[in-house]
Amino acid sequence: MKRKFYLIVLFAVIIGTNIQSQTVSDSTLLLPQKDMQWWRDAKFGLFIHFGLYSILGEGEWVMFAQQMDIDEYAKLKDKFTVDKFSGKKWVDVAKLAGCKYMVVTARHHDGFSLFDTKFSDYNSINSPVKKDLIGEYIEAARQANMKIGIYYSPLDWRYPGFFFPEMYRTSAEKMKNQTYTQVRELLTNYGKVDILWYDGGEDNWLGFGGLMWDGSKGWHTRGYDKPYTGKFSWEPLKINKMVRDLQPKIVISQRSGWMGDFTTYENSFRGRTKRPFELCTTIGGPAWGWTTDAASKVMNLDTCIRLLVMVVCQDGNLLLNVGPKPDGEIEPEQVQRLKEIGEFLSKYGESIYNTRGGIYDAKWGGTTLANNAMYVHVLKTPLDGTIQLPPDTKKIASATYMRDNSKIIFVQSDTGISLTNIVNKQNEIDLVIKITYK
Ligand code: GLC
Repeated sequence: MKRKFYLIVLFAVIIGTNIQSQTVSDSTLLLPQKDMQWWRDAKFGLFIHFGLYSILGEGEWVMFAQQMDIDEYAKLKDKFTVDKFSGKKWVDVAKLAGCKYMVVTARHHDGFSLFDTKFSDYNSINSPVKKDLIGEYIEAARQANMKIGIYYSPLDWRYPGFFFPEMYRTSAEKMKNQTYTQVRELLTNYGKVDILWYDGGEDNWLGFGGLMWDGSKGWHTRGYDKPYTGKFSWEPLKINKMVRDLQPKIVISQRSGWMGDFTTYENSFRGRTKRPFELCTTIGGPAWGWTTDAASKVMNLDTCIRLLVMVVCQDGNLLLNVGPKPDGEIEPEQVQRLKEIGEFLSKYGESIYNTRGGIYDAKWGGTTLANNAMYVHVLKTPLDGTIQLPPDTKKIASATYMRDNSKIIFVQSDTGISLTNIVNKQNEIDLVIKITYK
């Protein structure tokens, strides 16, 4: 069973990462740059995957992976006690980590809603916990001045119409109606929401795995790289027009079939883009939702900091995920790691937040740019202690180690800037040098 589980998760990951999303590019719906600024300045967010699947401890794909009967899976609802849930505690963890925004799963592919919805009673209010978890999280986030993000999966495995939209058109239309209704609810009932993080609303996901039924041809695979061309459509422009009407300044992810306000990379970074982008990944373990071994799989601090710095130097954001335990508590080992990232950010935050990407070189690290400063993030000290940076039109006044303000020798000329005698005395993961302009 375990082997099968991992194979299917692997399959999901391959699909998730290889799919070439066929997105509608309509720039009229894009947020103007000024409204994207807070998001681009924020740099670091906390992703939370939580739902019925958490109870089973095999990740958020467990229902699909183990081909569970829909009604059997739904019985988990009666075990959804979530005794230690506290929206405030989740927000406190994000604060501790130095995150400026959060994204929490309101409804994942299994179809169970963590919020009060009129669409169906398959939701947390109708389970033993009797709470609107999303409402509580939003309330706590607002109190703490944390930007509020909602993850929502248009696709729902309970609908045959998702798998075979041609054959089960009525089911597909019902699933679509659920999406429109619930997105409307989420963006109407909780005041201002800052991010709508769709997942799996692209056409490529329809007819999952590319398996299609066509009356004349019978069954055939269209290939992962081929767009779905059937009659069903999520109508991404229509739903996002509705979203803009309800929440004019909300930042929208690209996974609804419309290009979105930012590009999403999942798990692996696939190159710098001119568009705002976000890399999302999980702090450890094979899945996004809780797994029994999650506590022992937490990424080390070194990896976390390098990832954050690599992304920020290339002008993106990092959305780091945790999957709370069935009782709603985040694994202490994960909290500890997040706290350590927070400690790094409380020392070096000015070199991360509110900056723009500079250059990045896998050999040594990269730079971030602020108004009157440039930050050099040395992730690997060159053997000769020298870093060469490209020419800069602005004149440098000083170069100092941020850790103690001690000076660094620099030479600025038309051909570039060289920093010399760099030493990482305290063996810091990221040795940050601040270059101040005249
Ligand atoms: C994928 C997975 C999903 C996870 C998401 C996070 O789309 O299907 O389980 O929520 O990625 O990026």
